[in-house]
Amino acid sequence: MERCLDRKEVISMKNISKIYKMGNSDYKALEDVNLTIKSGEYVAIVGPSGAGKSTLMNIIGCLDTATNGEYILDGVNTKCSDAKLAEIRNSKIGFIFQNYNLLPKLNILENVELPLCYLGLPNDKIREKALESLKKVGLDTHIKHKPTELSGGQKQRVAIARALATEPQMILADEPTGALDSKTGREVLNMLKDLNKEGNTIVMITHDKDIAAEADRIITIKDGRILSDSSMDKGVMV
Ligand SMILES: Nc1ncnc2c1ncn2[C@@H]1O[C@H](COP(=O)(O)OP(=O)(O)OP(=O)(O)O)[C@@H](O)[C@H]1O
Ligand SMILES: [Mg+2]
Repeated sequence: MERCLDRKEVISMKNISKIYKMGNSDYKALEDVNLTIKSGEYVAIVGPSGAGKSTLMNIIGCLDTATNGEYILDGVNTKCSDAKLAEIRNSKIGFIFQNYNLLPKLNILENVELPLCYLGLPNDKIREKALESLKKVGLDTHIKHKPTELSGGQKQRVAIARALATEPQMILADEPTGALDSKTGREVLNMLKDLNKEGNTIVMITHDKDIAAEADRIITIKDGRILSDSSMDKGVMV
């Protein structure tokens, strides 16, 4: 935690709310969220089902926008055009989801190449970076496999390779071990820990208290609000 004190803010949210329109009524999924995360932090987001964790993660990752409030990501105000938002997302953030979100028709090399294609890199560079990334997760031997031909743990490793391929500064993971057995889940967590040691900012949603306890900081969400933040408990202003 202390090593983060002199680091720059990568996430700065002020009075963020998210309101879903449900027919004639409004549903407040997030209300008045104020949150700062610094470069290099390893943050776990916990809370009951329906609390607003994924909604918050989607806004952090620019997959969705807030209804109200201000969100500055790495110094850039996210109240901008969809094209700009997609550019920020592709260049700064890697995503890992519980259900992997791999495209079934593409082989694993093509899956990992996809975010690199969005960056508009030349083809040989795209291939080189995708292979390098698959090597990191130990799957460069399986590049022609389709996702359906892999185990759950292997699929999640492909998803990690895809998240890493663009060398993002931040990894967002929504229940990354939720569909895995405990041993494979441990491998995935160790990979995330290593990435954090290398300087990546990690924000992970988990419902598992033991997994959350491994993070530097635990933020609890309930009914769309931040109920507690362990960095505040320790009196450390991050
Ligand atoms: N697109 C949507 N339209 C309307 N309501 C939504 C939408 N997405 C989420 N919600 C509602 O917002 C609330 C927060 O949802 P969210 O997915 O963020 O919860 P969560 O904390 O991630 O839960 P879980 O642990 O079950 O994944 C829920 O009550 C949900 O029903
Ligand atoms: Mg969720």
